[in-house]
Amino acid sequence: MTKVLIATEKPFAAAAVEGIKKILKEAGFETLLLEKYTDQTDLVKAVEDADALIIRSDKASRQVIEAGKNLKIIVRAGAGYDNIDLAAATEKGIVAMNTPGQNSNAVAELTLGMLVFMARANFKGGSGTELKGKKLGIHAYGNVGKNVARIAKGFDMEVYAFDPFVSKETIEKDGVKVFETIDELYNTCQYISLNIPATEKTKKSINFELLSKMPNDATVINTARKEVIDEEELKKFFVARPDFKYISDIAPDCHSELLQFENRYYSTPKKQGAETSEANINAGLAAANQIVKFIKTGDKTFQVNK
Ligand code: 3PG
Repeated sequence: MTKVLIATEKPFAAAAVEGIKKILKEAGFETLLLEKYTDQTDLVKAVEDADALIIRSDKASRQVIEAGKNLKIIVRAGAGYDNIDLAAATEKGIVAMNTPGQNSNAVAELTLGMLVFMARANFKGGSGTELKGKKLGIHAYGNVGKNVARIAKGFDMEVYAFDPFVSKETIEKDGVKVFETIDELYNTCQYISLNIPATEKTKKSINFELLSKMPNDATVINTARKEVIDEEELKKFFVARPDFKYISDIAPDCHSELLQFENRYYSTPKKQGAETSEANINAGLAAANQIVKFIKTGDKTFQVNK
């Protein structure tokens, strides 16, 4: 019988787990569950018997992949798949997939929520500012970026985007103005929302020079990955620009050093962009359905290690 391991250090909402189990049961598959594990060796052990693996930000390292003797497919229930060792998966002929778009509304709602929090003096009672009429630059117009644009327009923000991988026409259809260069985006926008994936190209790409282009009272919100910021340069920029604010859904490694910049820096204690039952259900069920389709028919839609 096909065994599917759900390995989530940060568990899905109970309703999502129930939904996944139901889909797998109807397909005649068995569900194995490893939640809230604290040691990577627990995952290495649990994957031994599995034919398929569902994860969130859990690390599908080479060690995990090699331990999965029967493993045929890994699905990252979510967008970013920088936590999967794709080379190791490809070497072993394992298909890796994500579930694009399934949790993007949750991340986008949090983005705007955190922007309001920072603009309103961290809800401490002081006088803040409004988002209406302000310029928001969306750095990468994927599923999250698109949803951020939709919600920001409800706040009457002026929305701009830069994304060399999405056509101008596609972005403009959403009533969003397109910049051809990254410099124009950072030069123009007081607010920037980072929605880029962490790749070899984007890691540390948000640096002092780029941030320096931003106008006065600049705010950057990062709900993407901490790796995309050059942290050494971020710390320097905080000192150089007393007007600059940084909000992050993933605490940077220099979190404790940034805490001194009270009211200009905030990070959630644990990544919670996709922490809604809706997002868990959407992404979890999509992952289960993709596995069933792949095992039964060989369907490889959403494969990311082609
Ligand atoms: C994603 O890449 O989908 C988000 O960062 C959510 O990650 P999570 O499932 O670990 O919360």
